[in-house]
Amino acid sequence: MTDTTSNQMWGGRFAAGPDAIMEAINASISFDKRLAAQDIAGSRAHAAMLAATGILSDSDAEAIREGLLTVLSEIEAGDFTFSTALEDIHMNVEARLKEVIGTPAGRLHTGRSRNDQVATDFRLWVRDQLDAVDQALVALMRALLAQAEAGADWVMPGFTHLQTAQPVTWGHHMMAYVEMFGRDLSRVRDARARMNECPLGAAALAGTSFPIDREMTARDLGFDRPCANSLDAVSDRDFALEFLGVASICAMHLSRFAEELVIWSSAQFRFVALSDRFSTGSSIMPQKKNPDAAELIRAKVGRIFGANVALMMVMKGLPLAYSKDMQEDKEQVFDAADNLMLALAAMEGMVRDMQAERANLEAAAASGFSTATDLADWLVRVAGMPFREAHHVTGALVAKAEAKGCDLPDLSLEEMQAVHGEITASVYDVLGVHNSVASRMSYGGTAPEQVRAQVARWKERLG
Ligand code: ARG
Repeated sequence: MTDTTSNQMWGGRFAAGPDAIMEAINASISFDKRLAAQDIAGSRAHAAMLAATGILSDSDAEAIREGLLTVLSEIEAGDFTFSTALEDIHMNVEARLKEVIGTPAGRLHTGRSRNDQVATDFRLWVRDQLDAVDQALVALMRALLAQAEAGADWVMPGFTHLQTAQPVTWGHHMMAYVEMFGRDLSRVRDARARMNECPLGAAALAGTSFPIDREMTARDLGFDRPCANSLDAVSDRDFALEFLGVASICAMHLSRFAEELVIWSSAQFRFVALSDRFSTGSSIMPQKKNPDAAELIRAKVGRIFGANVALMMVMKGLPLAYSKDMQEDKEQVFDAADNLMLALAAMEGMVRDMQAERANLEAAAASGFSTATDLADWLVRVAGMPFREAHHVTGALVAKAEAKGCDLPDLSLEEMQAVHGEITASVYDVLGVHNSVASRMSYGGTAPEQVRAQVARWKERLG
């Protein structure tokens, strides 16, 4: 006789139920309940296939499919009591199905295992997330495009080593992020295409002796095809790792932009004003407006990349096929997905609301000898000097301006000629920051015309 405290799903060979600690370490229901909708979709497709192949009667399959909808609506309404004793979402759903429809519920698990079931559920969940990230990235890119279009010809300092380097345009800087998020978007789409194969029907690890139709379940669930190897199907978590890899790189991009917003919104820079909606105040310093959203976005990459490393470490060294270690995949992915979505939405909101301080950007662009390269280029072009010599002459002029405490265009022609006799008044044409950016017409350069072309290309690509 079976002990009533042992598990009703697999308790046949057990005389006693688990220790409380065993139950605590073993159960995943506290987090995998997030897979409920995917689990029920997978089971409904499986039941339909079992009927179509004659493995189940139509009436049993219909009862199962209807009953599963009842269970889903209970879960969605919050009327479902999840049980830790039933370990995970798969057994919670099946146990409730049995209460709702009786005996036919016991036939659902024919020709499958929890191993292919969880692999299928999780793929469906990650696929939905990739689609959500796809949409959020497009929304963020549209917000950046709007900023770039408005400020295609606003000049600002471009930096290397966070030292003023050459003037660039605001639009150009915004479009640099559009390129980064555009690559993230293409990584999302690549990952989705690669992961869109269905593990269902791989059963525990070896396939099944029932005449199942894996093409049918794959198609029903929106997969391109069934996974080709049953061992691989139940043990692969590449799709989750790829999601975390894509998420990590995207979070890193968000973090770099967030850092720039923190710097730019400081009183020392005043390049942007962040909206009140995306800032906070200080409880003690009344003058303060803090860029907390940007700081938190900057931080999110820590936990997202942490999740990537954690799952990689869980998976390394696991023998084929399924091992319970793999139950540790879900919390990492859930946490990374939630935080990435939050960071993307917050960044989109901040970018939509933020105000570039055009006059401050321009004033900063003109300071710090930012057109020194233009002066050197002028010496090459007009005076026919080798670039190395032009670099040297320009350096001497910068030193002179620095000693005088002024900028390059503030040096008189006589002062310039004292450094090099061939300099003429036309040099002043290239020393202005607007001239400087307008001259950077090489493909992908910072000239407003090039920026507008970049904006037009991306608008067309995003549709
Ligand atoms: N909760 C399990 C997981 O997330 C489901 C698969 C359990 N399979 C098994 N053979 N115990 O991995």
